[in-house]
Amino acid sequence: MMSDRNTITRKQFRHRFLKNEQDVFTHNAWDNVEWNEEQKNQAITQVCEHLQTKMSVEDANDLQNNADQNWEKFYSIHQEKFFKNRCWLFTEFPEITALYERESSNLLEVGCGVGNSVFPILTHYEKNNVHVYCCDFSTNAINILKNNPEYDASKCTAFVCDITSEEWNTPFELESLDIILLVFVLSAVQPNKLNQTINKFYNYLKPGGMILFRDYGRFDMAQLRFKEGRCISDNYYSRGDGTLVYFFSQDDLRKLFVSNGGFHEIQNIVDRRLQVNRGKQLKMYRVWIQCKFQKPLT
Ligand SMILES: C[S@@+](CC[C@H](N)C(=O)[O-])C[C@H]1O[C@@H](n2cnc3c(N)ncnc32)[C@H](O)[C@@H]1O
Repeated sequence: MMSDRNTITRKQFRHRFLKNEQDVFTHNAWDNVEWNEEQKNQAITQVCEHLQTKMSVEDANDLQNNADQNWEKFYSIHQEKFFKNRCWLFTEFPEITALYERESSNLLEVGCGVGNSVFPILTHYEKNNVHVYCCDFSTNAINILKNNPEYDASKCTAFVCDITSEEWNTPFELESLDIILLVFVLSAVQPNKLNQTINKFYNYLKPGGMILFRDYGRFDMAQLRFKEGRCISDNYYSRGDGTLVYFFSQDDLRKLFVSNGGFHEIQNIVDRRLQVNRGKQLKMYRVWIQCKFQKPLT
């Protein structure tokens, strides 16, 4: 497979570039926005300030020990109305479409929530040659997903699973998955449990199987706007509703998946977008990381 490591190709991302600052409010979003030195330094200063006002170890432990309950509350309040369908999946991850060309294959989405990736994928796969598995540790989320009229048990199996647990009770065998999809989920996992979780992904993927990852990147607007008392440790926070979020760097992911995890890196890119609220004249600097890692064939 050709490596597209660290490159952003025209096909993958939209390509509206901001050439003149005075044009900023003429569109809703700009791609590949370069940050100037002042902006970078300001972000570093803000993150250092967060570390000066960390939450207490007791509060942090309590939130981490009850992470599942806070997501249960989240879904009982928001139901299926919070996240938008991930319609960009097929442009960013053509590997999902490529599975459809094979005779039979298995895809697992981990931390699937109420199915904002699963349902677009099920619609994309009209035949029954790809089985879509999906799991989340929130029983509320899985119930909402299974009650969706688009849930088709002949093509999809949803189950409850805490991916940080030692034992996974799965409806599939070891080395049986072609793709594991991770959409804004590893940021919600306690950083010190990531190595063991990634090891599980490795064991369930077929040799040559792929991890497709998209999540929050370092200095994303959501990180910089945290107020004092929300920081747990470096780049790791609790939101007001008690859910946890980590902001990844490219090196973090390389270390987790390649150095520790034994995967090959196929892609590891930062997607910087400037979103604009034209009505309120607001500029929102978003940073996402997108990666593809492959389990070696041998
Ligand atoms: C930000 S949401 C993303 C949901 C979905 N992937 C999407 O893109 O709409 C994070 C999800 O990860 C789930 N999650 C967090 N930690 C988990 C864990 N240890 N095991 C399984 N699911 C987890 C949460 O319940 C939540 O549904």
